[in-house]
Amino acid sequence: MLDPFGRSIEYLRLSITDRCNLRCRYCMPEEGVPALEHGDILSYEELLRVARGCVALGIRKIRVTGGEPLVRRGVVDFIAQLAALPEAPEIVLTTNGLLLAGMAASLKAAGLTRVNVSLDTLRPERFRNLTRRDGLEQVLDGLAAAEAAGLDPVKVNAIPLKGINDDELLDFARLTLAHPWEVRFIEFMPISPDLEYGSATGIPMAEVERQLQTLGPLEPLPRRESAGPARLFRIPGARGCLGLIPSVSGHFCPECNRLRITADGRVRGCLFGNQEIDLKLVLRGGGDDAALVELLRAAICAKPEKHAIGSPEFTAPNRRMQGIGG
Ligand code: GTP
Ligand code: 5AD
Ligand code: SF4
Repeated sequence: MLDPFGRSIEYLRLSITDRCNLRCRYCMPEEGVPALEHGDILSYEELLRVARGCVALGIRKIRVTGGEPLVRRGVVDFIAQLAALPEAPEIVLTTNGLLLAGMAASLKAAGLTRVNVSLDTLRPERFRNLTRRDGLEQVLDGLAAAEAAGLDPVKVNAIPLKGINDDELLDFARLTLAHPWEVRFIEFMPISPDLEYGSATGIPMAEVERQLQTLGPLEPLPRRESAGPARLFRIPGARGCLGLIPSVSGHFCPECNRLRITADGRVRGCLFGNQEIDLKLVLRGGGDDAALVELLRAAICAKPEKHAIGSPEFTAPNRRMQGIGG
């Protein structure tokens, strides 16, 4: 389906929980995050109904996100059901990787095609400090398990943060020498300015690119469909590749093909906006599938032309990243 700005909406980000087993300092406070009540979260049955409606409107890729999606019980079976929807949409996952090692093979068998793993440091002490939990080894095991299970490509998402991990960017890039992974640097988005690392910590992608160029001449790669807004490069001879995602400075809104569903059943047209439509009104109010599709269509029609970050009208969204799913 086309939105009013001619963008073809084909990519759904479906958040299945707002809970997370990490507490990344830029994303969540340690305490005081009231988790959604069990009854507020959509059941898998409801999520499937929503996904089916989205597929009917032209969604062809569904990314399961969180919070941390692998903490929700039954996620493997749910993914199998998503993969079995009409039109066989591509099913992909964004995870922090903590639980991935034990689940990668069954996720693949359920029909998941690939994973994106968030990882912002390769140093155990720093991992503990940044995420307020232990677990770097588990995440690295998860990456290896994903590759071994044939989830392909394995992508690593790293957010460069000033004074926090900016001395590790080359180490991240060098991961691609030994592993066939796509290591992506994502520009930090200041969507929760109240958090400890909430603002003024991001590094523009142009600066990241300058650092990476010190590794030698990077080969630009042609844009792949699965690359989303990332620009891709390769260190000559490397097994994997590098991606740069200028989430804030890149202005890729004109190509935005996404729709988002929060775990409590609201559809959002934009990561940074505040417009949401509550699908529970239909899901729990006895509405039929046609009524559900009408709400989804309304959300696509209300998708804003672009985000307002950097302009005086910008106000931070009313939810944190973990409540939207990235
Ligand atoms: P691929 O399908 O592998 O391209 O995944 P993805 O990049 O869409 O998903 P992922 O969950 O790995 O998200 C990576 C990052 O891309 C997000 O955290 C954001 O930084 C950025 N991003 C995703 N969606 C949007 C969006 O709508 N607007 C902006 N500005 N950035 C986005
Ligand atoms: N800015 C940019 N990326 C973020 N993520 C979480 N919070 C932010 C932020 N403020 C990333 C996660 C994950 C993806 C879904 O979003 O690290 O890779
Ligand atoms: Fe970190 Fe993602 Fe959890 Fe937020 S939702 S605390 S970014 S792992």
